[in-house]
Parts: sequence; structure tokens; C-alpha cells
Amino acid sequence: MDETPEQLFRRTMGAFATGVTVVSAAGAGGRMAGITVNSLTSVSLKPRLLLWCLGYESARYDFFAAAETWGVTVLGADDEAAARRFARAETEAIELGEAATFAGAPVLQMGVAHVACRTHDRHAAGDHLIIIGEVLDLRVKPGAVLTFLRGLYGEAADPREKSGS
Ligand SMILES: Cc1cc2nc3c(=O)[nH]c(=O)nc-3n(C[C@H](O)[C@H](O)[C@H](O)COP(=O)(O)O)c2cc1C
Repeated sequence: MDETPEQLFRRTMGAFATGVTVVSAAGAGGRMAGITVNSLTSVSLKPRLLLWCLGYESARYDFFAAAETWGVTVLGADDEAAARRFARAETEAIELGEAATFAGAPVLQMGVAHVACRTHDRHAAGDHLIIIGEVLDLRVKPGAVLTFLRGLYGEAADPREKSGS
């Protein structure tokens, strides 16, 4: 069967290797949920802004589109199970014991980096909502990271650990 333009776009962009993150937020009654995201991009240094794109088709659209404060957890090489789990709405719930509050935003205990954000702006773009976040706080530690390339998970070693710098 011929590849559609959309399939070719997805396959082409799949050659752009990314890390894998979980964006997390708390809703009514303190319910916490996460969604696997690889569209994370830094936008501005002054002020510190980043963005991610939320699909309109997502069962979790309303929840994340409305969130004013949210966290980003950059997954480590050992966190593939979490990436798979938060890619499904059925397993989106974050239990109290696996979350930490970071500058008022929920983040996962796991991961190599955490960013707490407040929504700065939202822009509709095609079938996604671009959510721009102002950085409230952030922290990072060394270690290998989870990657996503050509539709498959992998890992990248920390080059600073290899070189000893
Ligand atoms: C590696 C990976 C990266 C993803 N990145 C995004 C993303 O940037 N934005 C998004 O809306 N969904 C992204 N998704 C899809 C969501 O995690 C989720 O699977 C999708 O929204 C469908 O589930 P839902 O309808 O329950 O939300 C990604 C999924 C995977 C596996």
C-alpha cells in the first residue's frame, strides 16, 4: 500500500532522535496524571520558556490543555516502562508515592531531569495545541537517557560520564 503524506511525515520526523519525557499535572481533587511526550523543545533563555505539543485527539486533551502548572520529567535509560505506561490513558494515573511536588508542580520521582512550569501561552496549530511553559524551577543529574528514534525506544549514554568531564 502506498504511504500517505502523513505517514511519510511521521517516518521522516522519526529520523530526528529525541529524548522521552512525561508531562504531569494535578487536577480536581489532587488527581495526578501523566502523558508521554517527545515534542518538548526549549524556546527562550530570557525568559526561560519551553514548549510541548498536545494532540487534539488525546483522551487527556482537556486535562492537560487546562493545566496552569505542570511538571516535565526527562526519562532515564531505565524508564522505558514509564514511557509505555503514560502513553496510555488507562494507566495515566500517578500515585502519591511516585510523585514529588517541585515548585508547585507534580513530577515523577524517576528520571534524569525535572522542570516545573507555569503555562505562559497556548497556540492552536493544526491538530495539536502548542503549550508554552515558563520555567519555575529545574534540576538535572548525570546518567544515560531514554531515546525515541524511528518509532523505537533506545538509550543514549551520558557523554560526560564517558569522557570523565
Ligand atoms: C515516544 C512518544 C512520544 C509522544 N509524544 C507526544 C507528544 O509530544 N504530544 C502528544 O500529544 N502525544 C504524544 N504521544 C502520544 C501520547 O503519549 C498518547 O499515547 C496519546 O495521546 C494517545 O493516548 P490518549 O488518547 O490516551 O492520550 C507520544 C507517545 C510516545 C510513545
